[in-house]
Amino acid sequence: MAKTKTYFVCRQCGAMQPKWMGKCPDCSAWDSLEQMTEAAADPHRPAVLSDPDGPTGPDVSADAPARSVAEIPDFQVPRIVTGLPEFDRVLGGGVVPGSAILLGGDPGIGKSTLMLQAGDHMARRGFNILYVSSEESAQQTKLRAARLGVGHEKLLIYAQCDLEKISRQIQKHRPHLCIIDSVQLIYKTTNPSPPGSVSQLKDCCQELVYLAKAGSSAVCLVGHVTKQGMLAGPKLLEHVVDTVLYFEGDTHHDHRIVRCVKNRHGSTMEVGIFRMGAGGLEPLDDAATLLIETHAGAASGSIITAAMQGSRILAVEVQALTTDSMLGAARRKVSGCDVNRVAMIIAVLEKRAGLRLVDKDVFVNVVGGLKVADPAADAAIALAIAGSHLKRGLTSDTLVAGELGLLGELRHINQLGARLNEAARLGFKRVIVPVQRSAADTASLAAAAKAMQIFPCRTLDEAVKLLN
Ligand SMILES: Nc1ncnc2c1ncn2[C@@H]1O[C@H](COP(=O)(O)OP(=O)(O)O)[C@@H](O)[C@H]1O
Ligand SMILES: [Mg+2]
Repeated sequence: MAKTKTYFVCRQCGAMQPKWMGKCPDCSAWDSLEQMTEAAADPHRPAVLSDPDGPTGPDVSADAPARSVAEIPDFQVPRIVTGLPEFDRVLGGGVVPGSAILLGGDPGIGKSTLMLQAGDHMARRGFNILYVSSEESAQQTKLRAARLGVGHEKLLIYAQCDLEKISRQIQKHRPHLCIIDSVQLIYKTTNPSPPGSVSQLKDCCQELVYLAKAGSSAVCLVGHVTKQGMLAGPKLLEHVVDTVLYFEGDTHHDHRIVRCVKNRHGSTMEVGIFRMGAGGLEPLDDAATLLIETHAGAASGSIITAAMQGSRILAVEVQALTTDSMLGAARRKVSGCDVNRVAMIIAVLEKRAGLRLVDKDVFVNVVGGLKVADPAADAAIALAIAGSHLKRGLTSDTLVAGELGLLGELRHINQLGARLNEAARLGFKRVIVPVQRSAADTASLAAAAKAMQIFPCRTLDEAVKLLN
């Protein structure tokens, strides 16, 4: 009889423990350890890739000898272009055959919509697609397909949760892309754990990934995220796959962003930007100006910045409102940027620019439901708050970019040249930027000065004085 091994895996962080504990020693989550029993060896484990120089993983069936890098033949990663440009962009140019993609996101954000649309685009380009729906019936999927206006004959829909039956369909149809929507409901009948448990997820994902690699199909696993915003199931799910994508956005806004956090076949710098409409997701190739409200003239408390999203520059409007606080403790409510960063900016405004905000409620919002983590947005947040407080503003053709230091200094930002080019392209006439030290940045500023008026500021105080 095969020897079995028992251990415990944390549902939150994926750490393995030899015995059960009430609290995970790694991530401090309570009651998160789940028992796993693993057979020592699985004789039915499918063979992985047969090509030792293939793009999608190491070979175990035909053991290639250890070689120097120079001896390994050159290889161009093949890609299947889905035809959804923003989705291709975030994948690094298209789907790599035999690779595994994990797509996570909140319920209702549009994961099923995106994958059905991407599947249909690929089917129209002549590829076979198998869409396995484990959450919805075939009729429900048909309703969605009809609403989205998709339904190519090469896009096969299969409503099933049983992994064995799904495997048989994959082996039968050998699709170029198999979509599993969602992986949390797939179960293996031989595993006594309930669907969605660590043990089931691990078993099912590994088998699907092996199966895909063996047949050179790409597999896309759709997953849920927990309340903390992490993919439900342990981190090991992320280790099994080649690419991890997060579908983000605010369900109350139209914009949706697909962000790549892991990619074995490309950069993780790319983001795909979509708009959710009645007819499904529309790629926004030129999203640059969509995140700006149009103001007739100067509006106090509204500043536009050029923020990086992945490798792309977007003009984003930051709005702020300061009001007298009625309660003892002033409130700081933030949407679309980091609340701690805003607290730091308020402290700098108090201490270095002489604004009295201690008894003011401060509200900050990034227009369009976008989340901005770029420190170059600091100066815009600070000027929006200062503008609302002082009832002064900048004209709507002014763009602000700069990181704020604790001494009240405006610090230099990366990609200055690219940001200035984008600002000029979008028709901005004035830019407020930090004083630059590097020669390349000085050259970019000189070039931009032909199209725009440049206001280099050493400190936040200098920038606040430009509000009128
Ligand atoms: N019948 C419908 N009519 C219009 N919009 C719909 C309909 N059904 C779903 N949607 C829109 O599509 C969005 C995404 O749905 P879906 O792709 O199922 O999300 P997920 O798979 O991420 O849970 C929903 O939040 C809703 O805005
Ligand atoms: Mg869904």
